[in-house]
Amino acid sequence: MDAIEMIKERRSVRKFKDEKVNRETMREIIEISRWAPSWANYQIARYTLVDDEATIAKLASDGVKGFVYNMKTLQNAKGVAVLSFVKGKSGTFDQAKRDMVKEGLSEDHAPIWEAFDAGIACQTFCLAAHAKGVGTCIFGVIDEDSIAQAVNLPKEETVAALIVYGYEEGAHVKPTPRKEVDEIMRFI
Ligand SMILES: Cc1cc2nc3c(=O)[nH]c(=O)nc-3n(C[C@H](O)[C@H](O)[C@H](O)COP(=O)(O)O)c2cc1C
Repeated sequence: MDAIEMIKERRSVRKFKDEKVNRETMREIIEISRWAPSWANYQIARYTLVDDEATIAKLASDGVKGFVYNMKTLQNAKGVAVLSFVKGKSGTFDQAKRDMVKEGLSEDHAPIWEAFDAGIACQTFCLAAHAKGVGTCIFGVIDEDSIAQAVNLPKEETVAALIVYGYEEGAHVKPTPRKEVDEIMRFI
């Protein structure tokens, strides 16, 4: 699939066929996702792929703060990726590199770089899935602690987002509006 087409035609999919995506396809999607760039190439993103119905039901009841819209999407979902990241790495350097930064790194900014890495990983996953014919929808309205508990997330990781995935039911979602180029761009 052409890259421009892939970017422009990816949509948030919220209606799924009653068909699981096989694990080999999900493995291929992660194989593509791992090429996402990351701070100092630390590759902090982790993907916990849930295709077990009981765990998906638990994520619907406990993992989305009772947000009905997300609960409804999860009711027909056959797969959910818990996107997490290893804490405390992005935004930092090991000693050798730290010495190269004259004024030091802002520790306040470190959490932003973790979220930044997770965001890039998230979009890379969604685009890779789209290229493989798998629809996705990112959830930001989530209860991170309940999700971590439901999937037994390793202690050193934090939940960044849920990404519901599956084969889209019906016609592809229509394009959502976008701001005009001149509203979001300036040259200096
Ligand atoms: C950080 C983030 C959080 C989001 N959270 C939710 C969510 O909780 N529930 C939902 O249905 N969609 C969620 N979305 C999907 C957006 O609503 C969607 O991307 C946007 O409306 C543009 O539509 P498109 O993805 O089809 O292009 C989220 C998207 C992002 C990037």
